[in-house]
Amino acid sequence: MPIHLPPISRRQFLLRSLAGGAALAFSPSLFAAGKRTDPNSWALLSDIHLAADRSFMARGINMTDHFTEVSRELLALPKCPAGVFITGDCAYNSGQAKDYALIAELLEPIRAGQMPVHLALGNHDNRERFWDAFPTEKAVQRPLADRQVALLRTERANWFILDSLEKTLSTPGLLGQEQLDWLAGALDANPDKPALVLLHHNPGINGNIGLKDSAALLEIMRPRKQVKAYLFGHTHDWDVWQDASGIHLINLPPVAYVFSKEKPAGWVHATLERKGMRLELRCVDPKHPSQGQVVKLDWRAS
Ligand SMILES: [Fe+2]
Repeated sequence: MPIHLPPISRRQFLLRSLAGGAALAFSPSLFAAGKRTDPNSWALLSDIHLAADRSFMARGINMTDHFTEVSRELLALPKCPAGVFITGDCAYNSGQAKDYALIAELLEPIRAGQMPVHLALGNHDNRERFWDAFPTEKAVQRPLADRQVALLRTERANWFILDSLEKTLSTPGLLGQEQLDWLAGALDANPDKPALVLLHHNPGINGNIGLKDSAALLEIMRPRKQVKAYLFGHTHDWDVWQDASGIHLINLPPVAYVFSKEKPAGWVHATLERKGMRLELRCVDPKHPSQGQVVKLDWRAS
């Protein structure tokens, strides 16, 4: 399993909030019991870049504020998403233990809202310190002992979560042969449902930005027609396009800062349909011109 954080009890969380902590930023009404979960609804987040100091700002924004705003929106949805993915760059810069302590704390409201959280790693994360922050998860048996890879089987798709962190603070990513072999085998063993591949780094390598072994990854995905989409973050730039084989490439926006100020920071609300997926962009700034943009994807033929 990847770092997979199950829901926690609302009651426990709200009691803790009386003593301070993350819950103070949330109205107790957001945690009302009895809300239904939509098994085909997923919250896609990337590049949250949380720093230990919650007042810390980068590129003109406060990352804790951005993340808290997104958490509030997730909790206010009429139906609970079946889960939340965060595709890496969880930590601000170099994956410090104190960054992960704050991440664990800021994830609690979402978990108390009965949403499991699935975390992947980016180039600003540190795998060992990340595991240390979530000790119960460290012990979970993984398909590859030293990488955070996982297969999450859900009603309408199988999610393959990969780990492209090669070296903390080194910008490009690498999956490596062992992980690529695992992916090929896991795809071959699970041909019947749409496969969605999720990792931090973008395909292609431009300068030092991107996944070094993109060509090998695409070689595995293209002929296996159950692969319908490759989702990633890293570029801090929201975009969706298709490769020549019909695989959808979904570049998730950052929850944290953007590199060009006209771009949106935010998250994507994905709804899996029988033969495709609906994506809705949710901006941290609700006045952003792209707020609410909907992209409908049709799956390529199997
Ligand atoms: Fe990032």
